[in-house]
Amino acid sequence: MCGIFGYVGTRRNAGEIVVEGLKRLEYRGYDSWGVACKEQNGSVSVNKDIGRIGTVDGSGFCQDCALAVAHTRWATHGGVTQLNAHPHLSCDGTIAVVHNGIVENYLEIKRELKAKGHTFLSETDTEVIPHLIEEKYKETGDFAAAVRTACLHFTGRYAVLALHTESNTLVAARTGSPLIVGVEREGLENRATEIGKSQVPSPACPAKLGERNRESRVPHQSYFIASDIPAFLPFTKTVQYLDDGEMVVTDGHSIIFSDIETGEERPKREIGITWSVEQAEKGDFDHYMLKEIMDQKESVARAVNQDETQIMTLAQAIRNAQGTFLVGCGTAGKACMAAEYFFSVVAEHHVNFCAASEFKVYHHFLKPASLLIVVSQSGETADVLEAMEVAKRKGSKVLAIVNVEGSTIAREADYTLLIRAGPERAVASTKALTGQLAALLLIAYALGDRLQEGKTLLLETSAQISDMLNPRYVERLSKLAEDMKDREDLYIIGKSWNYPMAMESAIKIQEVSYVHAEGFAGGELKHGPIALIEEGTPCIALMGKDEVQMDILSNAMELKARGAWIIGVSPERFEVFDEWIKVPDAGVAQAIVNIIPIQVLAYFLAVKRGKDPDMPRNLAKSVTVK
Ligand code: AGP
Ligand code: GLU
Repeated sequence: MCGIFGYVGTRRNAGEIVVEGLKRLEYRGYDSWGVACKEQNGSVSVNKDIGRIGTVDGSGFCQDCALAVAHTRWATHGGVTQLNAHPHLSCDGTIAVVHNGIVENYLEIKRELKAKGHTFLSETDTEVIPHLIEEKYKETGDFAAAVRTACLHFTGRYAVLALHTESNTLVAARTGSPLIVGVEREGLENRATEIGKSQVPSPACPAKLGERNRESRVPHQSYFIASDIPAFLPFTKTVQYLDDGEMVVTDGHSIIFSDIETGEERPKREIGITWSVEQAEKGDFDHYMLKEIMDQKESVARAVNQDETQIMTLAQAIRNAQGTFLVGCGTAGKACMAAEYFFSVVAEHHVNFCAASEFKVYHHFLKPASLLIVVSQSGETADVLEAMEVAKRKGSKVLAIVNVEGSTIAREADYTLLIRAGPERAVASTKALTGQLAALLLIAYALGDRLQEGKTLLLETSAQISDMLNPRYVERLSKLAEDMKDREDLYIIGKSWNYPMAMESAIKIQEVSYVHAEGFAGGELKHGPIALIEEGTPCIALMGKDEVQMDILSNAMELKARGAWIIGVSPERFEVFDEWIKVPDAGVAQAIVNIIPIQVLAYFLAVKRGKDPDMPRNLAKSVTVK
């Protein structure tokens, strides 16, 4: 939710850098955008607007500029207007602030600041921040200290980035929303290392910023501060993560991390990330969603080719646990739900799924010997982080299955397994889901002491997916979307692991095409939902060649008898189908292959209904609010 990006360094086109970076953060979901640059004469220029940043060219925003902040806003307080868009400035115009989250006590702070003569231009909670910092700066003359004391004043989870023209610095702080620093030293050998292997400490912090490194200045030395790595990926793959409760100050020459609460300095290591710029781009595809669906030709295999010792360790942790809970939100939650069936069928082991937003209520069941498995693409989802806090308070261990390396969830868990799907930028999760399903199924096989059998099955499934996603197949689904695009209601049924996939199908179709779609357990239809079926209502039945095949066929017959238009997603054709979407027979991995044609169908439904599948209305890729 919302994107934050700031630049300070030796490059002279900061305006352009932050605008291009914001475009790479667009996937996060927003309603307005804005940029503040320090001009040559020391003043701040602000450009902001509602709507998409689209083709805006930041090179015209300021000339010869080396300090800038930028923001994509997802409004919480105050309407979507140009005035409410960030950045917001202090009265004297030397401080510009961008912010993610909510200042819960902003009304009280605003009242105090107004009494001191501050004027406010927007309806946002955010605008109190630059004024509060301005007030604190008057007291101390130290910008970083002023930001710190201001942060101690407001309540709520946030990420904040402040630019100060006088000291030529950027200061950022976070409690809840992600912030990552990118470090560019062009001309120096890349000193960063693979995550977790070894560490390069930050240079010792100088008493005053800027007194160090000036002599050793290289052609480009820059610090980028962003909500996510793609913002600065074209410049550097060396990152430093800000943890919750930490702040950072940089003038482009050096950088200091510290604790917001105590003010104590925090040593910080530099980490090399493995994502490439190409992986994060959409290439020849019209949309990221389609590109990411196609990525599944390889990404499932990446999720499966894990270090076997690590998989066995995780399986052992589940075996030893007294109660294992699986939690996630939305699509990741559906992967958890499918895993309940995997663990039952493959390992005869009971695990409990709970939507992360509901997990708080389950704390009564948690013991130090319980295990919480959290599943998340972004690794930043607020509800999942809250579930982790609940478990940690009870002394339980947390295993995270995550896509984004170095994300908060990945760093805070006791064990982390990366699914390595690569950057997923479309709001609709596709390749992350199949990676999550593959990783969970692999662990289930390891728990059943059949790791090699599971690995073989999943690698065969990956090859089948690669064959399936051929141009003819995709064209066929495009044609089906054409036939379906004017229907306003659609139902999907499944049983066993195809039941969570039916629910996931509904999420996919709803979020990108805005068609009303619902997923049911096939057997539940006759208990109510069948009343919704009319002549021609499209109903998709997800099936495999398994022990529940006949049950779901009967459910499809029941629907057909009420006039439904039956679309079967199945390895075999049956008479009841009006349309047959053939999928490979993948046995226990059927859930993974069955969801893929639905992803393609959802994509084409969106496009044919004139919607942008990458940025659906009201949604954000990374949901950092509860
Ligand atoms: C997926 O298509 C959705 N946009 C959404 O349900 C998503 O899966 C959910 O918000 C969880 O996100 P996470 O995997 O990053 O934790
Ligand atoms: N609460 C702030 C606002 O509404 C920040 C929103 C955001 O996170 O983008 O302006």
